[in-house]
Amino acid sequence: MSDLLWQKPGVAVDADIQRFLAGDDVLLDREFFPHDIQASAAHAEGLQRIGILSVDELQGLQRELATLAEDFRSGAFVLDARFEDGHSAIEARLTERLGDAGRKIHTGRSRNDQVLVATRLWLKEKLGRVSMLSRGVARVALDRAQAERDLPIPGYTHIQRAVVSSAGMWWAGWAEAFIDNAVRANDTLTLVDANPLGTAAGYGVNLALDREHTTIALGFARMQVSPVYAQLSRGKFELAALEALGGATLDLRRIAWDLSLFTSAEFGFVALPAQYTTGSSIMPNKRNPDVIELMRATHASVAAARSEIEHLLSLPSGYHRDLQASKGAIFHGFGRGLPALALLPSLLANLEWREDRLRAALDSGMYATDVAVEAAVSGVPFREAYKAAAASADTAGRGRTPEGSLSARVSPGAAADLRLDELRGRLDALEGQAP
Ligand code: ARG
Repeated sequence: MSDLLWQKPGVAVDADIQRFLAGDDVLLDREFFPHDIQASAAHAEGLQRIGILSVDELQGLQRELATLAEDFRSGAFVLDARFEDGHSAIEARLTERLGDAGRKIHTGRSRNDQVLVATRLWLKEKLGRVSMLSRGVARVALDRAQAERDLPIPGYTHIQRAVVSSAGMWWAGWAEAFIDNAVRANDTLTLVDANPLGTAAGYGVNLALDREHTTIALGFARMQVSPVYAQLSRGKFELAALEALGGATLDLRRIAWDLSLFTSAEFGFVALPAQYTTGSSIMPNKRNPDVIELMRATHASVAAARSEIEHLLSLPSGYHRDLQASKGAIFHGFGRGLPALALLPSLLANLEWREDRLRAALDSGMYATDVAVEAAVSGVPFREAYKAAAASADTAGRGRTPEGSLSARVSPGAAADLRLDELRGRLDALEGQAP
């Protein structure tokens, strides 16, 4: 391993203890490495602006940081157990290439604010992606709601047939859900969009760091002002980001459940394109909806990541090494969540309803609510109308059609008035302010 940044002369390092301390941290840091390099360049600029580095030194650092980023991308530089962590690797490389300029880079910073700034830069990207993917899902759902607004499907409560519904209503529900998920991702991005670089170990530093410059250079909307809060917020903003992701994966789990039911032979409402299915190793007849099932399983990983961080945050103020474990949690959560969400728009766009099966699933009892409400409109007290409709539930709906039932559903947002333009307006506004 390269020299430990903090090693004291005469204190031997025990290999087993070092292995325990190291864990897989340096490997996890691969995920952050480009962001750590980016923040190191901004920090170096800030140091030059206050006279700690010469222009030549800054130029050398900028050049070597760019080369390191490129070497990492191409695989010419591998971040591995030769280094304690990604932060040490950057300093070691700069020192090896530049000598004193490399030895100066850590002036006024700590790995504590280094990891914070890298995490925030990383999460801003990921939340932007949650927002974008949620908007993509909403867009497909809205288009299909428009196209299939009059296609009758059963509406269920308790997985029991309840009333006549429409594909339009089903799609519009998911559209509004994913618009909300995009809003939440954007709001959380605003929370995360604050620069902790320059707060050092959590108590500031006796140096007039140019924090305004690093804030602008790194594209943050604002500075995180309190160094104490910079550390207190670690874990908390990761948790908020996972909650935003979890809003989307929770809906993903529910839509996957619907599709799992609808694609079964028992329902037979939806045909899933073959590329979304797999076979069985023993049962030659099987076509299994594994993609849908793994989508449904995704929320478990996001929830587990949230739970891990929530348990970690049982700490007094200030930095603690415990906080390091938040990294693995966000990588796991976003590593599972984003690929699942990314597949959803095309999956939804490719579903095919089986209209014969949908029609066959509509029975006359499903008009009983319409019958009772109509009687109430004509003056019968609703509870009386309800009892009368219940007594003749199987016959009261005779002669009624799904189309008639749907076109009478005139309350705002219901079948005859899905208000898709309103939803589209919200979605367009979100696209306009896309992160
Ligand atoms: N890998 C560490 C983390 O994620 C970096 C900060 C280390 N700081 C320290 N004081 N040991 O928290």
